[in-house]
Amino acid sequence: MTAKPFHLAWFLQGSSVQAWGEPWTGHIGTTWEKPELFLNMARSLERACFDYILIEDSSYVGESFGGSTEIYLKNAIAVPRQDPSVVAALMTQVTSRIGLVPTFGTYAYHPYLLARLVATLDQVSGGRIGWNAVTGSSDFAAMNFGMQGMPEHDLRYDMADEYMEVVRKLWGSWEPGAIIADRKSGILVDHAKVHGVNFQGKYFSTRGPLNSGPAPQGQPVIAQAGGSPRGRRFAAAHAETIVVNAKGIEAMRTYRADVHRHMEAAGRKPSECKILFLINPILGETEADAIERRKLRQHIADQHIEQRLAHFGKVTNIDFGRFDLDKPLPDHVTTNGHQLNLDQFRTMARGRSIRETMASFNAVDLTIDLCGTCDSVAARMGEVMEEVGGDGYLFSMPNVNRRSLAEIEDGLIPALQDRGLVRKAYEHKQFRDNLMAF
Ligand SMILES: Cc1cc2nc3c(=O)[nH]c(=O)nc-3n(C[C@H](O)[C@H](O)[C@H](O)COP(=O)(O)O)c2cc1C
Repeated sequence: MTAKPFHLAWFLQGSSVQAWGEPWTGHIGTTWEKPELFLNMARSLERACFDYILIEDSSYVGESFGGSTEIYLKNAIAVPRQDPSVVAALMTQVTSRIGLVPTFGTYAYHPYLLARLVATLDQVSGGRIGWNAVTGSSDFAAMNFGMQGMPEHDLRYDMADEYMEVVRKLWGSWEPGAIIADRKSGILVDHAKVHGVNFQGKYFSTRGPLNSGPAPQGQPVIAQAGGSPRGRRFAAAHAETIVVNAKGIEAMRTYRADVHRHMEAAGRKPSECKILFLINPILGETEADAIERRKLRQHIADQHIEQRLAHFGKVTNIDFGRFDLDKPLPDHVTTNGHQLNLDQFRTMARGRSIRETMASFNAVDLTIDLCGTCDSVAARMGEVMEEVGGDGYLFSMPNVNRRSLAEIEDGLIPALQDRGLVRKAYEHKQFRDNLMAF
């Protein structure tokens, strides 16, 4: 291993139909309910020594595009999807080292329920659970939980700050060594080591202690993806891993430096959080083959402009169906949803029409352009990390199937390992220890 290896994780777009309508997906439209593909994925990525799989989630059927659910349901855009805790639990039982990071929204779970669920997952996995802490962004999701709409963007993060405090206190309600399990004395738990929480906050309150017992990691790992200034501050205060779709090397450096500044202001060391950048590598047998595959990927994206706008509209709460797609996005359009995404869309637009902008927006490249043989892509990934300073990559590939997984496990990863850029074996048993190993 060289002096600066980097970390790897995978972004699974929900426990749901993967890449509907794309090549190499078999009978995904009927097989998705059973977890076989996801369990294969977990085994494959563990063989490849990934740090973790992040399981994305949202809890509503999209309705932003044209004020209808039609485009979402017809095209399997983030629906149907299952609760991520179930597939995460199943993945824990076919693996022994990889970290598993389901997403749960702070608007959807009471902190007590969340702390108990995540502690339980940490127990059944032997200390390999993280929580992707999201605030949620859609009014439709809020309405599913009896609210009229989502609180304002920055207020959601204020509420989430308090939420984290409650959850951490609940996880801390069992001191280390509280479980004695001594058959001779007949004592299971030392009651003096289990404490009430009695939290009365501005937004949440709870009594405690947690009745699940302690999480093996004590405090399970926190993952986050805040992109806006307020989101970055939240992530810098709480996260041990951040995932971000920065655009190009300069943006990667700037984002990383900014988060590090916020971490230091919050009294944390930058090394306590691993920032992973989204990538979607295109691999070929030869460079020419990879370029052909890139063209095909672009062609598929071009054929799906409306569907992709519907997905973008789902996370920004914008109805792109009401605009003339051959004109630029009007200046007055703002979002109470994902702010960074809309900012990036505008930067890319530079006077172009919505359709033209969407044709290139996250269509093929994410953080950086990676297209070539396994060897040349591995080399490029190494160079970029060297320039940025760390900490690794999050694979965000739209066409998850057995073929694309094999290309990563059996093609790209060995090329990265041969260069000493990523680990060949896990250092530890628990997730945080592996994440912080370098
Ligand atoms: C890789 C990645 C994964 C994300 N996963 C989820 C998710 O599963 N559920 C969710 O509601 N938001 C998810 N988000 C959205 C973030 O939580 C956040 O709302 C978004 O990055 C915008 O942040 P901002 O409003 O601070 O800019 C994800 C974002 C990224 C970049």
